[in-house]
Amino acid sequence: MTTLDVEELDDRVVVTLRRPEARNAINAAMAAELHEVCAALEAKPRLLLITGADGTFAAGADIGELRERGRDQALQGINRRVFDRIAKLPLPTVAAVDGYALGGGAELAYACDLRLASPTAVFGNPEPGLGILAAAGASWRLRELVGGSVAKQVLLAGKRLDADDALRFGLVAEVVPAGELITRAHALLDRMSRSGALALRLTKLVADGDGHPLTDDLAQAVLFETDDKRDRMDAFLAGGRS
Ligand code: COA
Repeated sequence: MTTLDVEELDDRVVVTLRRPEARNAINAAMAAELHEVCAALEAKPRLLLITGADGTFAAGADIGELRERGRDQALQGINRRVFDRIAKLPLPTVAAVDGYALGGGAELAYACDLRLASPTAVFGNPEPGLGILAAAGASWRLRELVGGSVAKQVLLAGKRLDADDALRFGLVAEVVPAGELITRAHALLDRMSRSGALALRLTKLVADGDGHPLTDDLAQAVLFETDDKRDRMDAFLAGGRS
C-alpha cells in the first residue's frame, strides 16, 4: 500500500489515509487500495475504522487527476464505486474525522455507517466551485444523513459544516478532542464487537434495505436458529449482561 496504512486486527481493520503532500486527497491509487481493503473485509468480515493522517481526513478527490479525467472516466465512477462498496461492507464502518473532510473526502465519510469528529472537523462539498458536481454519493447520501435543506446548503451554497454543525444535524455521533478521537472510535467499535456478528450484519442489511417486513422476518428467522442467540439469551437469563 502506498496511500494507506492498514492495521489488521482480529475483529477490525484500521485504515489511515496517508498522502500528506496532498492533504490525503483521494487519487486513483488510493481508490484501488481501498478496493483491496474491501475485498479483504468481504472475504473475512470485520469492523472498519477509517481515519486520516496528520490532522486531515481527506481534502477531496485529487484535483490534479480530476483535471485530466474526461467523460469516460466519470462514467467509470472511480470514487463512487469504491464508496458504494464501503457502504455495503458486511459489518459496520466508522469514520473518525479530524480536520478537513471535503469533496470526495466528505463523501467517503458519508459512506460510512457512523462518524465521529474532532473539534476541527469540517465537512463540505465545494465541487461546483471547480465546475463539477459531487458525484460520489453526496447528492443523495447527505440528504439521507442531514435532511434536504441542510444538504442543499452544503451542495448548492457551499456551506461548510463544522464539528458543532455536524453534531447538531446528526451527521456525527460525537465530537471528541483530537487526542481522544481514535480511542473513542475504538471504544465504539468495541461496543459493536460485543454484539453478535451475524446479528450486526443482518441488521445492517435490513437497515440499508428497502424496509420490507418480510425481509426482517427472514433475517430474524436466520438469527433465531443460531447457537449465538441461544447462548446470549441463556447468559442473560442466568444473570449475565452483555
Ligand atoms: N487534490 C490535490 N491536491 C490537494 C488537494 C486536492 N483535493 N487538496 C490539497 N491539495 C494539496 C495542495 O495543492 C497543496 O499542495 P502543494 O503543497 O504542492 O501546493 C497541499 O495539498 C497542501 O494544501 P494547502 O491548500 O496548501 O493546505 P491548506 O491547509 O492551506 O488548505 C484545504 C487545506 C483543504 C482547505 C485546501 O487544500 C483545499 O481547499 N483543498 C481543496 C478542497 C477541494 O476543493 N476539494 C474538493 C475536490 S473534489
